[in-house]
Amino acid sequence: MQLTLFKEEVVGLQARQNSTANKIMENDRAFHDWYRFVLSFPPHLVRDYIKKFRLGKMEILLDPFCGTGTTLVEAKLNNIPSIGCEANTMAFIASKTKVNWGIDAQKLITAAEKISMEAAIIEKELPINETYRLNNEQEKLILKDSIDDVPLSRSLLLRDLISKNEREELNEHLLLALAKIIVYSISNLHFGPEVGVRKSKITDHPVFFLWLNQVRSIAADIQTRCYNDTPSKVIKIDSRDISNCLEKSSISAVFTSPPYPNEKDYTRTTRLESVILGLINNRVELRCLKNNLLRSNTRNVYKMDNDEIYIKNNSRIIELADLIEKKRIELGKTSGFEKLYARVVKLYFGGMARHLAQLRIYLKPGAKLGYVVGDQASYFQVLIQTGSILEGIARELGYKVISLDLFRTRLATATKKQMREEVLVLEWPG
Ligand SMILES: C[S@@+](CC[C@H](N)C(=O)[O-])C[C@H]1O[C@@H](n2cnc3c(N)ncnc32)[C@H](O)[C@@H]1O
Repeated sequence: MQLTLFKEEVVGLQARQNSTANKIMENDRAFHDWYRFVLSFPPHLVRDYIKKFRLGKMEILLDPFCGTGTTLVEAKLNNIPSIGCEANTMAFIASKTKVNWGIDAQKLITAAEKISMEAAIIEKELPINETYRLNNEQEKLILKDSIDDVPLSRSLLLRDLISKNEREELNEHLLLALAKIIVYSISNLHFGPEVGVRKSKITDHPVFFLWLNQVRSIAADIQTRCYNDTPSKVIKIDSRDISNCLEKSSISAVFTSPPYPNEKDYTRTTRLESVILGLINNRVELRCLKNNLLRSNTRNVYKMDNDEIYIKNNSRIIELADLIEKKRIELGKTSGFEKLYARVVKLYFGGMARHLAQLRIYLKPGAKLGYVVGDQASYFQVLIQTGSILEGIARELGYKVISLDLFRTRLATATKKQMREEVLVLEWPG
């Protein structure tokens, strides 16, 4: 039912948008900045491939690992209907909110002003650091010292007041603004390739003021684009198992950046805001979330995992995993995580093979796909040529390989070598 509605929206769009200026302006970057992963690919890359794939306004672009929604926002700015899939709840909410430009900006500001005023009154009357705290289980989930007590209590108070706001249609924008300031303005987090803690001298951040400003900035963005009603839908789902959530032969193009096999844990990157917003409350919920993610690091590998069966005949991956294990033994490395390196590599490529296999029936014949992936050397410095290996997997599954475009290189800290980040371009012949 929902899908049919989506299709009708797409059809109804064309006439309306022909008269709409669709020039992409510099300040459109603002939508991306509502909340985004530090290492997301840049919006212009999506724009370039929308042009290369010659996507029309009636065609659906899918991002099966949409993260914080760069592809979806860029698709909407270019009047291309899109669908995103994301398994991490925080990223899912971010994407979903970032493509919802249909709310009333003035009402959003009014609601935020009311909430921040109420918060300031409550703070005057109550010792909020005693009332608004994380419980023991929640505290164990976040990195030690990642936030000081005062900004934490103020954030929890805001979350509580937002949850009581009667205009529910505004609440995701209000929460996303809170997530953004928690991470980038008031926490002690810093982002290198991984997330870490750097204690700040300021412990008394003006949380209500910062949040209100962030809401105002979101409202200002919405006001500039409120006429754009290009449909965009985000689904909370594991992209290795997308059966029945898309319509068959409906997708004209895919543009995405899946995780790479590199020990990056996306649940750690989003942990603090996920806990403060109440999206993860204990170890069991964290494990459920991790279970739906591609196995790209040793922190989410479980006994029952079996994605390696999807690449069991791929000699290149088996040899690569064997080489990593041989190196481990030679180097005398015996930690639990190190013992899992070879297995992660097999599970990662197996998961990608499962995803690419499942996707086929949802693609239109001639559909174009772009997968942005990077080479890695995180496992005892053994080079993993992610793009080139995925190219082999895709070919085996019947995809036509169009090109493996160099997007950029990155200096690997361990090897001091330049690593390729590439766009694997495929076509589904049908
Ligand atoms: C490299 S990030 C994508 C970044 C994205 N381009 C953006 O604009 O933020 C990869 C994303 O894939 C998600 N992910 C990992 N495994 C997944 C799965 N099996 N299904 C759906 N999403 C998954 C992660 O949570 C993460 O948000």
